Amino acid sequence: MSQLSLNQVTKHFVQAEQKITVLENSSYNFLAGQSYAISGASGSGKSTIMHMLAGIEKPTAGTINFNQRAITAADLQNKLGLVFQAPNLMPDLNVWENIALKGLILGAGLLVAKQRALDLLQQVGLAHKANAKPTQLSGGEQQRVAIARALYAQPAFLLADEPTGNLDVVTGQKIIDLLIFLQQKQQMGLIICTHDNYVLEKLAYRLHLAESKLI
Ligand SMILES: Nc1ncnc2c1ncn2[C@@H]1O[C@H](COP(=O)(O)OP(=O)(O)OP(=O)(O)O)[C@@H](O)[C@H]1O
Ligand SMILES: [Mg+2]
Repeated sequence: MSQLSLNQVTKHFVQAEQKITVLENSSYNFLAGQSYAISGASGSGKSTIMHMLAGIEKPTAGTINFNQRAITAADLQNKLGLVFQAPNLMPDLNVWENIALKGLILGAGLLVAKQRALDLLQQVGLAHKANAKPTQLSGGEQQRVAIARALYAQPAFLLADEPTGNLDVVTGQKIIDLLIFLQQKQQMGLIICTHDNYVLEKLAYRLHLAESKLI
């Protein structure tokens, strides 16, 4: 079972000559096959934790490990899927191309990548929109495309930073239900940063970030 861990991680930012401590010597071991919600006030550092787990930000001290060794660029590409508040789709590519692009980046041929994109669209219930442009989709549909893209490489962990923040309540709950369904079906780890009580109720583990500690 894969593991993604924060090991004695400290993270500081310096802003206008002031030191902001987001995390102080915190450790946590996330397991594939489990689901985790991270809550915390605005500005407490939830996104920063996600960015460190995803390799977008470096810890000031400590390490991010995957299966008990320092996470590598290849792990970041192949083992982690990322979903953000905004779907961040490429507007000039259609829906299947947006997903297949991830395959091309990973070295797949176009036909293989297209077939994988179509399979993933089936899984998120959007096969009928494969040829549409992102602007022709609703916010919830765009977020499902972003989820399909994140699943391309069959990641061990799916990291989602406020994935329902731009959606209405009902659509947001459907997205959360889909993420949990996929997590259980594929035995992934699912880590969601959120302010949303629905997510906190539905996920197995609840972590809270306050005063630079993850509890
Ligand atoms: N690149 C950066 N440079 C300097 N300071 C930063 C940077 N990124 C984040 N911060 C600061 O770190 C703190 C935590 O920010 P972060 O975005 O992680 O909070 P958050 O918990 O995700 O908040 P929200 O719920 O509003 O999304 C904030 O005080 C923010 O100003
Ligand atoms: Mg945030």
